Amino acid sequence: MKGLILSGGRGTRLRPLTYSLPKQLVSVANKPILHYVVENLLQAGIGEIGVIISPETGEQIKKSLMEAGFKGANFTFILQKEPLGLAHAVKVARDFLGEESFVMYLGDNLIGSGINDLVKEFAGKNPDALILLKEVENPRMFGVAEVGENGEILRLIEKPEKPPSNLALVGVYLFSPAIHQAIDRIKPSWRGELEITDAIQELINSGKKVLYHKLERWWLDTGKKDDMLRANRVVLDELQGRKIKGSVENSLLEGRIIVEEGARIKNSRIRGPVIIGRETLVENSFIGPYTSVGDRCKILRSTIEHSVLLGEVEISGVEGLEDSLIGRRAKIIRGAGVKKVFRVMIGDDSIVEI
Ligand code: G1P
Repeated sequence: MKGLILSGGRGTRLRPLTYSLPKQLVSVANKPILHYVVENLLQAGIGEIGVIISPETGEQIKKSLMEAGFKGANFTFILQKEPLGLAHAVKVARDFLGEESFVMYLGDNLIGSGINDLVKEFAGKNPDALILLKEVENPRMFGVAEVGENGEILRLIEKPEKPPSNLALVGVYLFSPAIHQAIDRIKPSWRGELEITDAIQELINSGKKVLYHKLERWWLDTGKKDDMLRANRVVLDELQGRKIKGSVENSLLEGRIIVEEGARIKNSRIRGPVIIGRETLVENSFIGPYTSVGDRCKILRSTIEHSVLLGEVEISGVEGLEDSLIGRRAKIIRGAGVKKVFRVMIGDDSIVEI
């Protein structure tokens, strides 16, 4: 079985961050989302991995995956020149996929359970498609499934106005090569894309075996700022114990905390779950629960909680920063003035003086 990771797209919902960083490379607990995806595939014994990339962000995706040094992974990068849909991406990967079954995994989807059980179920039951469904509050934002009383899938609809159920299609799909013929038969949707949802519906229409698995653990589709913060919260919540590799001076550390190598915590208080990246300096500050501080950041005389700071961020004299997502190398520096809580989402290289 092969893996196909979709890592193209323009990430419009995460702008301005995604003007300079592909959404799949935004970090959750200091690790790019895409790396969790690769780890899930490798854990399931899938090392032959095709990665669909776009002309805009392909080089960054390649670099990030090659530099991470995943053991047992063999990546083939496949360019999708235009974002014409998920099924179109499968078409573009046709040569790579050959006549083998594959797992298609959207590079911005995080799931709590890994995919081992799914891969086993697929091997045991031998369907043409095995899809993953999850109950959600806002099914209009997703592909939605209508299932029958005997557990069969009746219908799949992409982003329906009137959803027939609250079961959303998670961005992890297992396919036999029959999906290629189905894709050949579908037409672009109203949004001009070849939808994988329509291709699976086409499999159902032509009498192929399509099964589903209901996901019991968490699923996070990291499209927007609040999704990212939620993903960060959920992943940090699974942190176990405490790992302090950096130096801690005159500080109070409470709860589950990771302090990476070369990080320095001085005269500060940290209340977990929190992760502090490599060579980051935290001085005279408070870092509250559910905060990920990336590598080489500087946090001085500030209080921060429930936030994601990517690499090389500088926060100085800022009290009350929360629910924030801050791009690489951004600086927030406060002069003398009133104390106030505020929330921001700022992209790479931004400077905010308050
Ligand atoms: C895509 C699929 C949709 C699925 C979702 C999961 O949506 O088309 O069926 O529910 O991924 O993340 P998109 O991200 O293209 O809006």
